[in-house]
Amino acid sequence: MTELLPLAIDCQNLTYRYGQFTAVDDLSLQVRPGETMGLLGPNGAGKTTLVRMLTTLTPVQEGELRIFGLDSRRRTTDIRSNIGYVPQQLSIEPALTGWQNVEWFARLYGVPRGERACRVEQALAAMELLDVADRLAGAYSGGMVRRLEVAQALVNRPSLLVLDEPTVGLDPIARDGVWTQVQNMQAQFGMTVLLTTHYMEEADALCDRVALMHRGTLRAVGTPTDLKAQVSAGATLEDVFRHFAASDLAESTPESSDFREIRSSRRVASRAS
Ligand SMILES: Nc1ncnc2c1ncn2[C@@H]1O[C@H](COP(=O)(O)OP(=O)(O)O)[C@@H](O)[C@H]1O
Ligand SMILES: [Mg+2]
Repeated sequence: MTELLPLAIDCQNLTYRYGQFTAVDDLSLQVRPGETMGLLGPNGAGKTTLVRMLTTLTPVQEGELRIFGLDSRRRTTDIRSNIGYVPQQLSIEPALTGWQNVEWFARLYGVPRGERACRVEQALAAMELLDVADRLAGAYSGGMVRRLEVAQALVNRPSLLVLDEPTVGLDPIARDGVWTQVQNMQAQFGMTVLLTTHYMEEADALCDRVALMHRGTLRAVGTPTDLKAQVSAGATLEDVFRHFAASDLAESTPESSDFREIRSSRRVASRAS
């Protein structure tokens, strides 16, 4: 039966350019319904740019993208109502309580008034935040803030949950807390999860498959076990990454894209501040 369902994500030859700079380069990737897919790569690999296309926040310039069979160029609204998105940058309002933060998203997503309280409660419970729901979010720890953001993304019961670097900057215990809740929730609701991270060991433990991205292109896609076996006995996912990205070291020139990446990310940072 599952073969009859459309793919959760189907990207064909996606390319995205910021001016002359190609951030996503002819990338094709398929994610099946119910899968947890990890998108791995160093800073500047193009993960956020790809994720923003998947969530329809950034338009597709070149290539084809379907989410649950819906063409991203024409069905933007339908796609958005199926997706929960936790962006890389902070999305909570510190002056509101945890409950109010999730309720605000419920309103944004158009959850009917009569269902809101129930949905907010379920989303907070799934992230184990009910007992702190009346506290101001500004007083939450880093791990609690991340879980609150996941609760916000869950409130419209998405079929696809997209998490961009959900555990960056968290200590190992807080990271475990985020992952445990995401896994519990996935077991409960069977949603598809796409997450980006540069913590290889986390992806290894959590993801059904991983996609290794470097300088805008996909270098390898597969289960962590298969990818490690392709490299050597006892290889870690770090080794896999080095293996598939290694040819770049030889290609580097003084005007290499590393330099451009640093320059352009500084520009981005200065614009953001
Ligand atoms: N708004 C932008 N304008 C110009 N360049 C950008 C912009 N956003 C990202 N980039 C560049 O595109 C590349 C990919 O960035 P990004 O998708 O954020 O990667 P990642 O999420 O993997 O760190 C980087 O080199 C970055 O500097
Ligand atoms: Mg990013």
